[in-house]
Amino acid sequence: MNSPGDSLILESDSPERTMEIGRTIGASLQGGEVIYLIGPLGSGKTHLIQGIARGAGVEESTAVNSPTFVLVNEYTARFLGLDLYHIDAYRLASPTEFEQLGFDDLYRPDSVVLIEWADRILSVLRDIPAIRIELSHEGPTQRKIVFTHISPAIRAALTR
Ligand SMILES: Nc1ncnc2c1ncn2[C@@H]1O[C@H](COP(=O)(O)OP(=O)(O)O)[C@@H](O)[C@H]1O
Ligand SMILES: [Mg+2]
Repeated sequence: MNSPGDSLILESDSPERTMEIGRTIGASLQGGEVIYLIGPLGSGKTHLIQGIARGAGVEESTAVNSPTFVLVNEYTARFLGLDLYHIDAYRLASPTEFEQLGFDDLYRPDSVVLIEWADRILSVLRDIPAIRIELSHEGPTQRKIVFTHISPAIRAALTR
């Protein structure tokens, strides 16, 4: 029997494949999810988020990139009727800055919160159940992607 804590491991051999994995996740979102993306620079966190956004129905004309001038990027996912919030904790000066973001307003049943570099602010992320995605380099274009605490729907979609 699988328990929600069991991890799922996928291999990606290209940026396109990582985005495709993201699309699959995005299309399986239900709202209310918080997703931590953990892994070193260049491991593919942003590519995965780009895929998630497209899979959820964020239009191609909307750029999906790490927030630079604001702390949170907001995208509307039309297919699913959800707001997606994209936070890059790398750009936060301190965990306190995350607390000032107004996370409580972002975390709703009709939204999904994506947090790159979540491991940098674990001390302020509260006991909210979150999907954990850890990426690591295995070669120039090889990435290992480890998922934990994914919903049965996302697991089923990823292993189909
Ligand atoms: N399998 C792969 N998946 C994702 N990115 C890859 C892969 N192989 C090579 N890359 C490259 O690695 C970099 C990943 O960048 P990005 O998604 O911005 O990572 P991060 O947000 O983790 O810093 C890009 O330059 C991309 O072209
Ligand atoms: Mg990034």
